[in-house]
Amino acid sequence: MISYKELGLVNTREMFSRAIEGGYAIPAFNFNNMEQLQAIVKAAVETKSPVILQVSKGARNYANQTLLRYMCEGAVAYAKELGCEHPEIVLHLDHGDTFELCKSCIDMGFSSVMIDGSHLPYEENVALTKQVVEYAHQFDITVEGELGVLAGVEDEVSAEHHTYTNPEEVIDFATRTGCDSLAISIGTSHGAYKFKPEQCHVDPQTGRLVPPPLAFEVLDAVMEKLPGFPIVLHGSSSVPQEEVDTINKYGGKLEAAIGIPEDELRKAAKSAVCKINIDSDSRLAMTAGVRKVLAEQPSEFDPRKYLGPARDNMEKLYKHKIINVLGSDNKLAK
Ligand code: G3H
Ligand code: 13P
Ligand code: ZN
Repeated sequence: MISYKELGLVNTREMFSRAIEGGYAIPAFNFNNMEQLQAIVKAAVETKSPVILQVSKGARNYANQTLLRYMCEGAVAYAKELGCEHPEIVLHLDHGDTFELCKSCIDMGFSSVMIDGSHLPYEENVALTKQVVEYAHQFDITVEGELGVLAGVEDEVSAEHHTYTNPEEVIDFATRTGCDSLAISIGTSHGAYKFKPEQCHVDPQTGRLVPPPLAFEVLDAVMEKLPGFPIVLHGSSSVPQEEVDTINKYGGKLEAAIGIPEDELRKAAKSAVCKINIDSDSRLAMTAGVRKVLAEQPSEFDPRKYLGPARDNMEKLYKHKIINVLGSDNKLAK
């Protein structure tokens, strides 16, 4: 058993209560490689933001769980080297789907886990989440549960249609499971194709497609049932048009990729939504950076020459999210 505290990591409890109080959200960025991790840590340090490093089951299989854990221990040391005396870094399992997977991460040094039983019948979701909470809390590890189903297709996460969270269930779920935070479904979804063009209308000023609004009435009803309880939004990439354009300009083929408008996320961040998950935007920023270099300098074959600019592009994106969307800059406790 490796304690996350020995690795210099923190759980989400304190940072979430400060975020709710302060009307901002903590960034939860997925990572599976060194360049993403460097960019996240640098962005968090330079903006003085707490940050959640998220590892999905797919990322764990890609990069190896042990290596990822050491990388996060290294991330704490790197943050200090960059001048942050008291970094607040969480290592979080994203979309854990079994008790065994959550236990394995807990035993390995993760400081927070998500158990995603949202696709299960309600009572099974309650039982599984409770089992993970009981194990995790022995070691002061925080647990995120999920109620309601998000649409979207990723490596390990897939559903055809979303089902909004039923606010009538949230008190029972939170009380019986003892979970520390709750992911809810209010119209966000995973991946870079969140809406079909026919669901959107054209903004006459920008000519860009605007998706239907998030179901803020569901969020409001959840907050009314569970005042002050930490709420999480998955599927919160905005799919920046400039990254999509760069990818397409340099040989990519991303047609009709549409994300969540940033003003909707800004509004959510001011509420009890205290964790906002972003993965696809980082993938787009990285891919745009790599494609640009390889297209403009076809004779280049040193990975540092294309991964370096890709890393810079991700860092810019992370800083933008922290400062202009989530509002978590200058929010470190010390
Ligand atoms: O929510 C899903 C995350 O974007 C992780 O995706 O399973 O492809 O690593 P992945
Ligand atoms: P995006 O695909 O919108 O980035 O969502 C990521 C996510 O929810 C990770 O759990
Ligand atoms: Zn997710």
